Amino acid sequence: MNAQTQKYYKIITYGCQMNEHDAEVLAGQLEQLDYLPIDNDAEADLVILITCAVREHAEQRVYGKIGELYRLKQENPNLVLAVGGCMSQQEDVAKKLKQRFPYLDIIFGTHNLTHFPELLRAAQASQETVLEILDREGEIREHLPQVRQDGLKAWTTIMYGCNNFCTYCVVPYVRGRERSRQPESIIAEVKDLASRGYQEVSLLGQNVNSYGKDLAQDYDFADLLRAVNETGISRIRFMTSHPKDISPRLIEAMATCEHVMEHLHLPVQAGSNRILQAMNRRYTRERYLQLVDEIRTAIPDISLTTDIIVGFPGETEEDFADTLSLMETVRYDAAFTFAYSPRGGTPAAKMLEQVEEAVSKERLQRLNELQARISMERNQELIGSQQELLVEGPSKNDPSRLTGRTRGNKLVHFIGPEELSGQLVPVRITQAQTWNLFGELI
Ligand code: 5AD
Ligand code: SF4
Repeated sequence: MNAQTQKYYKIITYGCQMNEHDAEVLAGQLEQLDYLPIDNDAEADLVILITCAVREHAEQRVYGKIGELYRLKQENPNLVLAVGGCMSQQEDVAKKLKQRFPYLDIIFGTHNLTHFPELLRAAQASQETVLEILDREGEIREHLPQVRQDGLKAWTTIMYGCNNFCTYCVVPYVRGRERSRQPESIIAEVKDLASRGYQEVSLLGQNVNSYGKDLAQDYDFADLLRAVNETGISRIRFMTSHPKDISPRLIEAMATCEHVMEHLHLPVQAGSNRILQAMNRRYTRERYLQLVDEIRTAIPDISLTTDIIVGFPGETEEDFADTLSLMETVRYDAAFTFAYSPRGGTPAAKMLEQVEEAVSKERLQRLNELQARISMERNQELIGSQQELLVEGPSKNDPSRLTGRTRGNKLVHFIGPEELSGQLVPVRITQAQTWNLFGELI
């Protein structure tokens, strides 16, 4: 292909790892159409935004970016602009996008990923926006080419969708019901990754603990972990786990599979039973704390991380104090904290007692301060310990050092030869900061 006809694409992704992985699948399809990736938006022939609808802030960023891309489109009318992902999967938002930005060439939902080449052809043949949102759930994607960003760590989606309908969350509406991939094809994919030199796989799903419930055979997430443990891959991670679906079988599989990392992301969302119930989380604070005890008994050095929402409708100062005290009790290694953001179509958005933004912000700040103190203490406890690191390469902030991650997913900076990149090495932790550690090679 000569330089004049070579086409370039740029994919910009917002939100979670599911979206990042969707972007890899999309990139795989574009490269089959002979498109090449390019960093600079201005040099691309096709720019695709993969959007997130979980909080309003993410949506605002997308609107801002579309406005910015319009200027490029004015300079280069052949530029194709496409918006996909969770925002455009919602019909009202898709219509709004079409009205507000009539120059968009393609608007597509989360279930249309495999159709993208057809949508692109249709857009190139038409002056109008091509809008396709399938409300049927996407077929399970198998054997699709994927462009993985890194030769070391890979994501594999093991299931799509979510059945939980937490009252604040838009995901079940945009990603549809739970559909599990066949275990054989997941296992084959991980074996293939291992044979191509990948060291780590992250098994992805909105709620990986309900993996298998929709399969014909009797096969659950614990079975899958045990099977993936035998594929030859060095490190296995997974996310996200819903506390109501963690089984003793799973804890046992985590404790006994040597390639499954000692890290669990276990979103609690709130510490007050009243709020947990209003969120439709289907566990109590007591049950959650009991689960944490069971997990720590089986895997004493596990890293625990969580997601927490503050300012859910009706949250009083007392409810919030319950969240703070739960955080103190569990002593998470890290927490992703969010101010509640009302999402159209979800039950919580219609609840009457919405909490004022200033109150949520102030609570968020107190929560973050508490977690920063705990994260620092948890990291200090690791000083002097020996840790296995997967070396990722030179540190972004200080290229004279290398960075790697512990089995518990903590970032460690250390001095060593660059050839160690991609390898597993032992280090001793020498120094702790709130969000990372320093160590030395042993
Ligand atoms: N407002 C704020 N945070 C939310 N999350 C999901 N929906 C909302 C919302 N409407 C958070 C939850 C979830 C994480 C991915 O995003 O904590 O676990
Ligand atoms: Fe959303 Fe709840 Fe499903 Fe997680 S489990 S994706 S928070 S509905």
